[in-house]
Amino acid sequence: MRRVVCPGSFDPITNGHLDIIARSARLYDEVVVAVLINIEKRSLFTVDERIDVLQTVTKEYPNVKVRKFHGLLVDFCKENDIPAIVKGIRVVSDFDYELQMAQLNYRLSGVETLFMPTNPEYSFLSSSRVKEIARYGGDVSGLVPDLVHQLLTERLKG
Ligand code: PNS
Repeated sequence: MRRVVCPGSFDPITNGHLDIIARSARLYDEVVVAVLINIEKRSLFTVDERIDVLQTVTKEYPNVKVRKFHGLLVDFCKENDIPAIVKGIRVVSDFDYELQMAQLNYRLSGVETLFMPTNPEYSFLSSSRVKEIARYGGDVSGLVPDLVHQLLTERLKG
């Protein structure tokens, strides 16, 4: 069984994330989408809300599972028998950061990291930008799944 993890905060998932998950699902037998539980970071959606959304928007991919984790990603990988991490790279600055993270994770555990170029349609996209646009009434349709668009509108209504 060739298994890989797509980790992140997913607060909320964007179409850029979904594109990476879907492409990984075509390449691997099983894709585990792992949501970081980070009590230090203020989030818009709770971890369980994010998991519900991820499960709904990845329903069409039977080999995608959604899980949560805390602590080190490589420990989650070891516990779940996952030999590799997939990371989307949008711009060169992502690579600078992710390269060091990948090398560190490999040094800690032997878990590999594979970089997947983001679809250029989404290379400007991030969860924080989506939240900012939505907060000020901008239109995020086409940037996030419809369900996320709806939830963002409800949550940020005031
Ligand atoms: O969507 P994000 O917030 O950019 O995702 C970042 C994530 C969750 C992939 C990263 O912060 C992570 O792996 N955190 C777990 C802690 C860890 O393993 N850190 C690496 C060694 S310092």
